[in-house]
Amino acid sequence: MADLQGWIERDVASVWHGFTQMGAYANNHPVIVERAEGRELIDVEGNRYLDAISSLWVTTLGHRVEELDQAIRDQLDRVAHTTMLGNGNRVVIELAEALAPLVPVDRPRFLFASDGAAAVEQAIKIAFQYWTNQGVRSRTSYLAFSGAYHGDTIGSLAIGDGGFGTDIFDPLRFPVVRTPSLGEPGAVQAAIETIATNASRLAAIVLEPLVQGAAGMAMHDPEAVQAIAKAAQDNDVLVIHDEVATGFGRTGTLFATDQCPGVQPDMMVLGKGITGGYLPLAATVASQRVWEAFIGEDLSERTFYHGHSYSGNALGAAVALRHLELLEEWNVLANVTERAEQFRQLLSTQVGPLAGVAQIRQRGLMIGIELSAPEDGLRWGRKVSAACVDRGVLIRPLGDVIVIMAPLTTTSAEVETIVGAVAESVSEVCGQ
Ligand SMILES: Cc1ncc(COP(=O)(O)O)c(C=O)c1O
Repeated sequence: MADLQGWIERDVASVWHGFTQMGAYANNHPVIVERAEGRELIDVEGNRYLDAISSLWVTTLGHRVEELDQAIRDQLDRVAHTTMLGNGNRVVIELAEALAPLVPVDRPRFLFASDGAAAVEQAIKIAFQYWTNQGVRSRTSYLAFSGAYHGDTIGSLAIGDGGFGTDIFDPLRFPVVRTPSLGEPGAVQAAIETIATNASRLAAIVLEPLVQGAAGMAMHDPEAVQAIAKAAQDNDVLVIHDEVATGFGRTGTLFATDQCPGVQPDMMVLGKGITGGYLPLAATVASQRVWEAFIGEDLSERTFYHGHSYSGNALGAAVALRHLELLEEWNVLANVTERAEQFRQLLSTQVGPLAGVAQIRQRGLMIGIELSAPEDGLRWGRKVSAACVDRGVLIRPLGDVIVIMAPLTTTSAEVETIVGAVAESVSEVCGQ
Protein backbone atom coordinates (compact mmCIF):
# COMPACT_ATOMS: atom_id res chain seq x y z
CA MET A 1 0.00 0.00 0.00
CA ALA A 2 1.39 3.40 -0.98
CA ASP A 3 1.90 6.03 1.73
CA LEU A 4 0.41 9.52 1.55
CA GLN A 5 3.19 10.83 -0.70
CA GLY A 6 2.77 7.82 -2.97
CA TRP A 7 -0.97 8.43 -3.27
CA ILE A 8 -0.41 12.11 -4.04
CA GLU A 9 2.01 11.16 -6.83
CA ARG A 10 -0.51 8.68 -8.26
CA ASP A 11 -3.22 11.36 -7.96
CA VAL A 12 -1.21 13.94 -9.91
CA ALA A 13 -0.30 11.33 -12.52
CA SER A 14 -3.91 10.52 -13.37
CA VAL A 15 -6.50 12.92 -11.90
CA TRP A 16 -7.31 16.54 -12.80
CA HIS A 17 -8.88 18.41 -9.85
CA GLY A 18 -11.33 21.27 -10.42
CA PHE A 19 -10.48 24.81 -9.21
CA THR A 20 -6.96 23.52 -8.45
CA GLN A 21 -3.61 24.43 -10.00
CA MET A 22 -2.30 20.95 -10.68
CA GLY A 23 1.28 22.22 -10.96
CA ALA A 24 1.14 23.17 -7.27
CA TYR A 25 -1.34 20.56 -6.01
CA ALA A 26 1.20 18.08 -4.64
CA ASN A 27 2.95 20.78 -2.57
CA ASN A 28 -0.26 22.12 -1.03
CA HIS A 29 -0.75 19.26 1.44
CA PRO A 30 -3.90 17.73 -0.08
CA VAL A 31 -5.90 15.35 2.10
CA ILE A 32 -6.32 12.02 0.31
CA VAL A 33 -9.45 10.50 1.77
CA GLU A 34 -9.85 6.78 2.03
CA ARG A 35 -12.98 6.51 4.15
CA ALA A 36 -15.08 8.40 6.65
CA GLU A 37 -16.94 7.97 9.92
CA GLY A 38 -19.72 10.35 10.86
CA ARG A 39 -18.37 13.85 10.32
CA GLU A 40 -14.74 12.74 10.18
CA LEU A 41 -12.74 12.01 7.07
CA ILE A 42 -9.92 9.49 7.38
CA ASP A 43 -6.97 9.73 5.03
CA VAL A 44 -4.83 6.97 3.50
CA GLU A 45 -2.53 7.05 6.56
CA GLY A 46 -5.35 6.93 9.09
CA ASN A 47 -5.26 10.65 10.01
CA ARG A 48 -8.67 12.09 10.92
CA TYR A 49 -10.13 15.45 9.85
CA LEU A 50 -13.41 17.02 10.91
CA ASP A 51 -15.25 17.81 7.67
CA ALA A 52 -15.97 21.46 8.53
CA ILE A 53 -16.88 22.30 4.92
CA SER A 54 -19.36 19.44 4.49
CA SER A 55 -17.33 18.25 1.48
CA LEU A 56 -17.92 21.54 -0.35
CA TRP A 57 -21.32 22.20 1.21
CA VAL A 58 -23.07 18.95 0.28
CA THR A 59 -22.92 16.70 3.36
CA THR A 60 -25.82 17.27 5.73
CA LEU A 61 -26.18 14.38 8.20
CA GLY A 62 -22.61 13.13 7.98
CA HIS A 63 -20.80 10.41 6.07
CA ARG A 64 -21.73 6.72 6.09
CA VAL A 65 -25.12 7.26 7.67
CA GLU A 66 -26.47 3.74 8.11
CA GLU A 67 -30.01 4.62 7.00
CA LEU A 68 -28.79 6.41 3.84
CA ASP A 69 -26.40 3.60 2.98
CA GLN A 70 -29.29 1.16 3.35
CA ALA A 71 -31.59 3.24 1.12
CA ILE A 72 -29.05 2.96 -1.68
CA ARG A 73 -28.58 -0.77 -1.14
CA ASP A 74 -32.36 -1.30 -1.23
CA GLN A 75 -32.68 0.69 -4.44
CA LEU A 76 -29.79 -1.26 -5.98
CA ASP A 77 -31.90 -4.38 -5.54
CA ARG A 78 -34.58 -2.70 -7.68
CA VAL A 79 -32.75 -0.69 -10.34
CA ALA A 80 -29.85 1.81 -10.34
CA HIS A 81 -30.95 4.06 -13.18
CA THR A 82 -33.55 4.38 -15.91
CA THR A 83 -34.16 7.28 -18.28
CA MET A 84 -36.55 10.12 -17.51
CA LEU A 85 -36.98 10.92 -21.20
CA GLY A 86 -40.50 9.84 -22.11
CA ASN A 87 -40.66 7.32 -19.25
CA GLY A 88 -40.86 7.35 -15.46
CA ASN A 89 -39.36 5.68 -12.43
CA ARG A 90 -41.21 4.85 -9.23
CA VAL A 91 -38.69 6.22 -6.72
CA VAL A 92 -38.33 9.48 -8.67
CA ILE A 93 -42.10 9.96 -8.50
CA GLU A 94 -42.00 9.24 -4.76
CA LEU A 95 -39.22 11.80 -4.27
CA ALA A 96 -41.07 14.50 -6.22
CA GLU A 97 -44.23 13.79 -4.20
CA ALA A 98 -42.29 14.05 -0.93
CA LEU A 99 -40.61 17.33 -1.95
CA ALA A 100 -43.78 18.95 -3.30
CA PRO A 101 -45.36 19.99 0.02
CA LEU A 102 -41.99 21.22 1.32
CA VAL A 103 -40.85 23.59 -1.44
CA PRO A 104 -42.28 27.14 -1.34
CA VAL A 105 -43.41 26.93 -4.97
CA ASP A 106 -47.00 26.87 -6.26
CA ARG A 107 -47.99 23.33 -7.39
CA PRO A 108 -44.41 22.38 -8.16
CA ARG A 109 -43.05 20.11 -10.91
CA PHE A 110 -39.49 18.77 -10.66
CA LEU A 111 -37.09 18.52 -13.59
CA PHE A 112 -34.13 16.59 -12.23
CA ALA A 113 -30.48 17.07 -13.20
CA SER A 114 -27.17 15.88 -11.79
CA ASP A 115 -25.43 19.04 -10.56
CA GLY A 116 -26.43 22.49 -9.41
CA ALA A 117 -25.05 24.21 -12.49
CA ALA A 118 -27.05 21.93 -14.80
CA ALA A 119 -30.22 22.66 -12.85
CA VAL A 120 -29.53 26.44 -13.04
CA GLU A 121 -28.99 26.03 -16.78
CA GLN A 122 -32.38 24.33 -17.03
CA ALA A 123 -34.03 27.15 -15.10
CA ILE A 124 -32.64 29.90 -17.32
CA LYS A 125 -33.61 28.00 -20.47
CA ILE A 126 -37.11 27.34 -19.10
CA ALA A 127 -37.50 31.04 -18.26
CA PHE A 128 -36.53 32.01 -21.81
CA GLN A 129 -38.90 29.48 -23.40
CA TYR A 130 -41.70 30.39 -20.97
CA TRP A 131 -41.92 33.72 -22.80
CA THR A 132 -41.34 32.48 -26.35
CA ASN A 133 -44.03 29.83 -25.86
CA GLN A 134 -46.39 32.76 -25.34
CA GLY A 135 -45.16 34.63 -28.39
CA VAL A 136 -42.97 37.08 -26.44
CA ARG A 137 -39.59 37.32 -28.19
CA SER A 138 -38.10 40.32 -26.38
CA ARG A 139 -37.48 38.67 -23.02
CA THR A 140 -33.98 37.38 -23.66
CA SER A 141 -32.06 38.82 -20.73
CA TYR A 142 -31.76 38.16 -16.99
CA LEU A 143 -31.30 40.28 -13.91
CA ALA A 144 -28.38 38.96 -11.87
CA PHE A 145 -26.51 40.24 -8.85
CA SER A 146 -22.95 41.32 -8.16
CA GLY A 147 -21.08 38.53 -6.43
CA ALA A 148 -23.51 35.91 -7.76
CA TYR A 149 -22.32 32.37 -8.34
CA HIS A 150 -24.55 29.80 -10.01
CA GLY A 151 -22.10 27.19 -11.33
CA ASP A 152 -19.65 26.62 -14.13
CA THR A 153 -21.57 25.73 -17.27
CA ILE A 154 -21.50 28.59 -19.79
CA GLY A 155 -25.07 29.69 -19.02
CA SER A 156 -24.68 29.57 -15.26
CA LEU A 157 -21.31 31.34 -15.59
CA ALA A 158 -23.03 34.12 -17.52
CA ILE A 159 -25.55 34.66 -14.74
CA GLY A 160 -22.72 34.53 -12.23
CA ASP A 161 -20.43 37.46 -11.67
CA GLY A 162 -16.96 36.15 -12.43
CA GLY A 163 -14.05 35.88 -10.06
CA PHE A 164 -12.28 32.67 -8.98
CA GLY A 165 -10.27 32.82 -12.19
CA THR A 166 -13.38 32.53 -14.36
CA ASP A 167 -12.97 36.03 -15.86
CA ILE A 168 -11.02 34.36 -18.64
CA PHE A 169 -14.36 33.04 -19.90
CA ASP A 170 -15.86 36.53 -20.23
CA PRO A 171 -15.96 36.32 -24.05
CA LEU A 172 -18.21 33.26 -23.68
CA ARG A 173 -20.59 34.84 -21.16
CA PHE A 174 -23.83 36.22 -22.62
CA PRO A 175 -24.67 39.73 -21.36
CA VAL A 176 -27.05 40.11 -18.43
CA VAL A 177 -28.40 43.08 -16.50
CA ARG A 178 -26.24 43.28 -13.37
CA THR A 179 -27.31 45.02 -10.15
CA PRO A 180 -25.45 45.35 -6.82
CA SER A 181 -25.48 42.55 -4.27
CA LEU A 182 -28.55 42.97 -2.03
CA GLY A 183 -26.55 43.48 1.17
CA GLU A 184 -24.91 46.65 -0.21
CA PRO A 185 -26.34 50.03 0.87
CA GLY A 186 -29.07 51.16 -1.54
CA ALA A 187 -28.97 47.87 -3.47
CA VAL A 188 -32.61 46.95 -2.94
CA GLN A 189 -33.87 50.25 -4.33
CA ALA A 190 -31.40 50.03 -7.21
CA ALA A 191 -32.63 46.53 -8.06
CA ILE A 192 -36.28 47.61 -7.95
CA GLU A 193 -35.57 50.48 -10.34
CA THR A 194 -33.50 48.28 -12.65
CA ILE A 195 -36.31 45.72 -12.80
CA ALA A 196 -38.85 48.40 -13.70
CA THR A 197 -36.58 49.94 -16.36
CA ASN A 198 -35.67 46.64 -18.01
CA ALA A 199 -38.86 44.64 -17.49
CA SER A 200 -39.70 44.26 -21.18
CA ARG A 201 -36.42 42.48 -21.87
CA LEU A 202 -36.08 40.43 -18.68
CA ALA A 203 -36.98 36.76 -18.80
CA ALA A 204 -36.17 36.28 -15.13
CA ILE A 205 -34.38 37.48 -12.02
CA VAL A 206 -31.92 34.93 -10.63
CA LEU A 207 -31.31 35.28 -6.89
CA GLU A 208 -29.48 33.37 -4.17
CA PRO A 209 -31.91 34.12 -1.32
CA LEU A 210 -30.39 35.40 1.97
CA VAL A 211 -26.82 34.14 1.38
CA GLN A 212 -24.52 34.44 -1.62
CA GLY A 213 -22.29 31.58 -0.57
CA ALA A 214 -19.48 31.73 -3.09
CA ALA A 215 -19.28 35.52 -2.73
CA GLY A 216 -17.78 34.77 0.68
CA MET A 217 -21.07 34.36 2.56
CA ALA A 218 -22.44 37.79 1.54
CA MET A 219 -25.80 38.20 3.26
CA HIS A 220 -29.01 40.19 3.02
CA ASP A 221 -32.29 40.34 4.91
CA PRO A 222 -35.57 38.57 4.12
CA GLU A 223 -37.08 42.01 3.43
CA ALA A 224 -34.74 42.37 0.45
CA VAL A 225 -36.00 39.08 -0.99
CA GLN A 226 -39.58 40.21 -0.40
CA ALA A 227 -38.90 43.52 -2.14
CA ILE A 228 -37.47 41.73 -5.19
CA ALA A 229 -40.46 39.38 -5.29
CA LYS A 230 -42.82 42.35 -5.25
CA ALA A 231 -40.92 44.23 -7.96
CA ALA A 232 -40.95 41.09 -10.10
CA GLN A 233 -44.67 40.70 -9.63
CA ASP A 234 -45.38 44.37 -10.36
CA ASN A 235 -43.36 44.13 -13.59
CA ASP A 236 -44.36 40.59 -14.60
CA VAL A 237 -40.84 39.14 -14.51
CA LEU A 238 -40.16 35.54 -13.39
CA VAL A 239 -38.12 34.95 -10.23
CA ILE A 240 -35.71 32.03 -9.89
CA HIS A 241 -34.36 31.26 -6.42
CA ASP A 242 -31.08 29.38 -6.53
CA GLU A 243 -31.09 27.38 -3.31
CA VAL A 244 -28.33 25.00 -4.35
CA ALA A 245 -26.19 26.17 -1.42
CA THR A 246 -28.86 27.42 1.00
CA GLY A 247 -31.31 24.52 0.62
CA PHE A 248 -31.91 21.56 2.91
CA GLY A 249 -31.40 23.18 6.28
CA ARG A 250 -28.15 25.12 6.00
CA THR A 251 -29.68 28.48 6.91
CA GLY A 252 -31.77 27.16 9.80
CA THR A 253 -34.95 26.48 7.84
CA LEU A 254 -35.43 23.82 5.18
CA PHE A 255 -35.10 26.51 2.51
CA ALA A 256 -33.87 30.10 2.87
CA THR A 257 -37.06 31.22 1.10
CA ASP A 258 -39.00 29.89 4.11
CA GLN A 259 -37.61 32.85 6.09
CA CYS A 260 -39.18 35.30 3.63
CA PRO A 261 -42.91 35.31 4.42
CA GLY A 262 -45.19 35.54 1.39
CA VAL A 263 -42.45 34.84 -1.17
CA GLN A 264 -43.05 32.08 -3.70
CA PRO A 265 -40.55 32.08 -6.57
CA ASP A 266 -41.66 30.93 -10.01
CA MET A 267 -38.75 28.52 -10.06
CA MET A 268 -36.33 27.15 -7.53
CA VAL A 269 -33.05 25.35 -8.05
CA LEU A 270 -32.01 22.58 -5.66
CA GLY A 271 -28.79 20.61 -5.47
CA LYS A 272 -25.91 19.88 -3.09
CA GLY A 273 -27.69 18.77 0.13
CA ILE A 274 -30.64 17.20 -1.67
CA THR A 275 -29.09 13.71 -1.30
CA GLY A 276 -27.46 14.50 2.04
CA GLY A 277 -24.22 14.76 0.09
CA TYR A 278 -24.28 11.18 -1.17
CA LEU A 279 -24.91 11.28 -4.90
CA PRO A 280 -25.06 13.87 -7.69
CA LEU A 281 -28.67 14.99 -7.96
CA ALA A 282 -30.19 18.42 -8.51
CA ALA A 283 -33.58 19.73 -9.52
CA THR A 284 -35.26 22.65 -11.22
CA VAL A 285 -38.61 23.27 -9.55
CA ALA A 286 -41.25 24.95 -11.73
CA SER A 287 -44.49 26.51 -10.52
CA GLN A 288 -47.88 25.80 -12.08
CA ARG A 289 -47.70 29.10 -14.01
CA VAL A 290 -44.43 28.07 -15.65
CA TRP A 291 -45.53 24.48 -16.20
CA GLU A 292 -48.74 25.48 -17.96
CA ALA A 293 -46.84 27.50 -20.55
CA PHE A 294 -45.19 24.30 -21.76
CA ILE A 295 -48.31 22.16 -22.19
CA GLY A 296 -49.39 21.65 -25.80
CA GLU A 297 -49.78 19.16 -28.64
CA ASP A 298 -47.50 16.12 -28.82
CA LEU A 299 -44.20 17.00 -30.58
CA SER A 300 -45.16 20.68 -30.53
CA GLU A 301 -42.73 23.55 -30.05
CA ARG A 302 -44.07 24.12 -26.55
CA THR A 303 -42.11 21.06 -25.36
CA PHE A 304 -38.95 21.64 -23.33
CA TYR A 305 -36.35 19.94 -25.53
CA HIS A 306 -33.71 19.39 -22.87
CA GLY A 307 -32.52 16.47 -20.75
CA HIS A 308 -29.42 14.64 -19.58
CA SER A 309 -28.49 10.96 -19.60
CA TYR A 310 -28.49 10.67 -15.82
CA SER A 311 -31.34 13.09 -15.00
CA GLY A 312 -33.45 11.66 -12.20
CA ASN A 313 -31.03 8.91 -11.26
CA ALA A 314 -32.89 6.30 -9.20
CA LEU A 315 -30.12 5.73 -6.63
CA GLY A 316 -29.90 9.48 -6.08
CA ALA A 317 -33.67 9.74 -5.75
CA ALA A 318 -33.78 6.87 -3.23
CA VAL A 319 -31.16 8.41 -0.98
CA ALA A 320 -32.75 11.88 -1.34
CA LEU A 321 -36.12 10.45 -0.29
CA ARG A 322 -34.70 8.76 2.82
CA HIS A 323 -32.69 11.90 3.59
CA LEU A 324 -35.89 13.98 3.68
CA GLU A 325 -37.42 11.53 6.14
CA LEU A 326 -34.34 11.62 8.38
CA LEU A 327 -34.27 15.42 8.47
CA GLU A 328 -37.72 15.17 10.03
CA GLU A 329 -37.21 12.02 12.17
CA TRP A 330 -34.00 13.32 13.74
CA ASN A 331 -35.35 16.85 14.17
CA VAL A 332 -32.20 18.07 12.43
CA LEU A 333 -33.29 21.70 12.12
CA ALA A 334 -33.46 21.99 15.92
CA ASN A 335 -29.80 20.97 16.06
CA VAL A 336 -28.99 23.54 13.36
CA THR A 337 -30.57 26.27 15.49
CA GLU A 338 -28.68 25.24 18.64
CA ARG A 339 -25.31 24.75 16.95
CA ALA A 340 -25.71 28.00 15.00
CA GLU A 341 -26.19 29.90 18.26
CA GLN A 342 -23.22 28.12 19.81
CA PHE A 343 -21.06 29.03 16.81
CA ARG A 344 -22.25 32.64 17.05
CA GLN A 345 -21.26 32.92 20.71
CA LEU A 346 -17.92 31.11 20.48
CA LEU A 347 -16.87 32.93 17.32
CA SER A 348 -17.73 36.32 18.78
CA THR A 349 -15.60 35.70 21.89
CA GLN A 350 -12.74 33.59 20.46
CA VAL A 351 -12.36 34.77 16.85
CA GLY A 352 -14.05 38.17 16.45
CA PRO A 353 -11.54 40.06 18.64
CA LEU A 354 -8.46 38.59 16.92
CA ALA A 355 -6.19 40.84 14.87
CA GLY A 356 -6.78 40.25 11.18
CA VAL A 357 -10.50 39.46 11.52
CA ALA A 358 -12.60 42.10 9.76
CA GLN A 359 -16.10 40.63 9.99
CA ILE A 360 -17.96 37.42 10.85
CA ARG A 361 -21.07 36.73 8.78
CA GLN A 362 -23.49 33.96 9.66
CA ARG A 363 -26.92 32.65 8.81
CA GLY A 364 -27.69 29.28 10.36
CA LEU A 365 -24.70 27.04 9.72
CA MET A 366 -23.38 29.12 6.81
CA ILE A 367 -20.46 31.09 8.23
CA GLY A 368 -17.85 33.34 6.64
CA ILE A 369 -14.97 34.90 8.59
CA GLU A 370 -13.52 37.74 6.59
CA LEU A 371 -9.83 38.41 7.19
CA SER A 372 -8.33 41.78 6.37
CA ALA A 373 -4.77 41.28 5.23
CA PRO A 374 -2.77 44.53 5.53
CA GLU A 375 -1.41 44.05 2.00
CA ASP A 376 -2.36 41.99 -1.04
CA GLY A 377 -0.74 38.67 -1.76
CA LEU A 378 -0.36 37.43 1.84
CA ARG A 379 -2.87 34.64 1.08
CA TRP A 380 -4.11 34.60 4.65
CA GLY A 381 -7.20 32.59 3.73
CA ARG A 382 -5.13 29.80 2.27
CA LYS A 383 -2.65 29.84 5.18
CA VAL A 384 -5.29 29.86 7.93
CA SER A 385 -7.08 26.96 6.21
CA ALA A 386 -3.82 25.00 6.00
CA ALA A 387 -3.20 25.66 9.70
CA CYS A 388 -6.72 24.34 10.47
CA VAL A 389 -6.04 21.19 8.44
CA ASP A 390 -2.84 20.69 10.48
CA ARG A 391 -5.10 20.75 13.54
CA GLY A 392 -7.43 18.11 12.11
CA VAL A 393 -10.19 20.44 10.86
CA LEU A 394 -10.78 20.51 7.10
CA ILE A 395 -11.41 24.06 5.88
CA ARG A 396 -11.29 25.52 2.36
CA PRO A 397 -11.33 29.32 2.04
CA LEU A 398 -12.90 31.64 -0.50
CA GLY A 399 -10.06 34.12 -1.00
CA ASP A 400 -9.52 35.73 2.39
CA VAL A 401 -12.84 34.49 3.76
CA ILE A 402 -12.62 31.43 6.00
CA VAL A 403 -15.75 29.39 5.35
CA ILE A 404 -17.20 27.17 8.05
CA MET A 405 -20.04 24.99 6.76
CA ALA A 406 -20.30 22.20 9.30
CA PRO A 407 -22.69 19.28 8.72
CA LEU A 408 -26.17 19.81 10.17
CA THR A 409 -25.68 17.05 12.75
CA THR A 410 -22.47 18.56 14.15
CA THR A 411 -22.23 18.14 17.93
CA SER A 412 -21.51 20.73 20.60
CA ALA A 413 -18.02 19.27 21.17
CA GLU A 414 -17.28 19.45 17.43
CA VAL A 415 -18.31 23.11 17.31
CA GLU A 416 -15.81 23.80 20.11
CA THR A 417 -13.09 21.90 18.21
CA ILE A 418 -13.76 23.81 14.98
CA VAL A 419 -13.84 27.26 16.61
CA GLY A 420 -10.74 26.42 18.67
CA ALA A 421 -8.82 25.35 15.57
CA VAL A 422 -9.89 28.45 13.64
CA ALA A 423 -8.96 30.77 16.55
CA GLU A 424 -5.51 29.21 16.93
CA SER A 425 -4.91 29.23 13.18
CA VAL A 426 -5.95 32.87 12.74
CA SER A 427 -3.66 33.89 15.63
CA GLU A 428 -0.78 31.88 14.19
CA VAL A 429 -1.10 33.32 10.69
CA CYS A 430 -2.39 36.85 11.28
CA GLY A 431 -0.56 37.67 14.52
CA GLN A 432 -1.99 38.45 17.96
C1 LIG B 1 -25.72 29.08 -5.27
C2 LIG B 1 -25.07 28.03 -6.10
N1 LIG B 1 -25.62 27.69 -7.29
C3 LIG B 1 -25.09 26.75 -8.08
C4 LIG B 1 -23.92 26.11 -7.74
C5 LIG B 1 -23.34 25.09 -8.64
O1 LIG B 1 -23.59 23.81 -8.17
P1 LIG B 1 -22.71 22.58 -8.68
O2 LIG B 1 -21.33 22.79 -8.13
O3 LIG B 1 -23.40 21.38 -8.08
O4 LIG B 1 -22.76 22.59 -10.16
C6 LIG B 1 -23.30 26.43 -6.52
C7 LIG B 1 -22.05 25.77 -6.11
O5 LIG B 1 -21.38 26.14 -5.19
C8 LIG B 1 -23.88 27.42 -5.69
O6 LIG B 1 -23.31 27.79 -4.52
